[in-house]
Amino acid sequence: MTSDVIAQFKNVVKEYHTKNGTTIALNGVNLDISRNEFICVVGPSGCGKSTMLNMLAGLFPPTSGQVLFEGKEVEGTSIERGVVFQQYALFPWLTVRKNIEFGLKQIRVIDSNGKKKGLDKKEIDTTVDKYLNLVQLEDFANSYPKQLSGGMKQRVAIARAYAVNPQILLLDEPFGALDAQTRTQLQSELIKTWEQEKKTCLFITHDIDEAVILASRIVIMSARPGRIKDIVNVDIPHPRDQSTKMTEEYQKIKNYVWGQVYEEYLEVRK
Ligand SMILES: Nc1ncnc2c1ncn2[C@@H]1O[C@H](COP(=O)(O)OP(=O)(O)OP(=O)(O)O)[C@@H](O)[C@H]1O
Ligand SMILES: [Mg+2]
Repeated sequence: MTSDVIAQFKNVVKEYHTKNGTTIALNGVNLDISRNEFICVVGPSGCGKSTMLNMLAGLFPPTSGQVLFEGKEVEGTSIERGVVFQQYALFPWLTVRKNIEFGLKQIRVIDSNGKKKGLDKKEIDTTVDKYLNLVQLEDFANSYPKQLSGGMKQRVAIARAYAVNPQILLLDEPFGALDAQTRTQLQSELIKTWEQEKKTCLFITHDIDEAVILASRIVIMSARPGRIKDIVNVDIPHPRDQSTKMTEEYQKIKNYVWGQVYEEYLEVRK
C-alpha cells in the first residue's frame, strides 16, 4: 500500500440475513481512496452505496474481505471518520453552537505532562466560530435545530463534521432532502470548503450533476449485488463553481456517467 492511500475496500462482500432471506448487498468491491481526494459514489437504489459508507464509518463489518483505514481494519466508529447523513442528525436539545462543539469536546490531546486532556475552552470557541463562519451561520449560533430550515440544519451537520478535523468525511446523500436552490448553494459551499481545506471525502449521491461538480473521481456501482462498474477521473481544474457546468469537459463527463448509470437503472427494472 502506498502512503497516499488512506482507505481501502479489499474484495468486500456484505450479506444481510433477515427472516425473509439473504440479501447480497455488495459482492467483491475493491477500491483505494487516496488522501485528499473527493470521491463520489453513484448507482441505482439498493446497490449497496450506504452499506459501503457505513462499513468505513465502522457501523458494522463486511461479511468477508476487508475495509481498511490507514492500513488497519476498521473496528467501530471513530472521530477520525466523520459522518454526515441525509437526515439532519443534530441534537435537538442543543443550540447550533453546542451541536458543533459536541464533537470537539470528545477530542483528547496529550499535555506537556503526558496526561490526556480536553481542548481548551478558548480553542473550542475559536474553532466553532471558524466553522460557523464557513457555513455562514454566525447569526444562528444560539438557535435550536427546530428553528432552522432544512438547508441550515444540513450546514450545521457539515460544520460539525468538519470542526473535529476528521481524516475522512463520509457523506451519505447529505443534500438529498433539500430543494434544488439550497442544494446548489450547499454544493458551492462544499466545493469552496474543500478548495480551502482539502480533506478526503466519500460522498454518495443520486445526482450526477452533483457528482461531477464535486468529485475528483466518480465511482459507478452496478445494480445489486453491488460491484464497482467503472471509475471516472474528473480532471476539471479547481476552482470550480456553478459556471463550470457550462464547460464542454463537464458535459462530456456528465454524459458518460449518465450513460453508465442509466444502464444499471435499466438492469434494476428488468
Ligand atoms: N439492515 C439491513 N438489513 C437487511 N437488508 C439491508 C439492510 N440494510 C440494507 N439492506 C439491503 O442491502 C441492499 C443495499 O442497501 P443500501 O442501503 O446499501 O443501498 P443504497 O445503494 O444506499 O440505496 P439507496 O440509493 O436507496 O440509498 C438493499 O437491497 C437493502 O435492502
Ligand atoms: Mg443509501
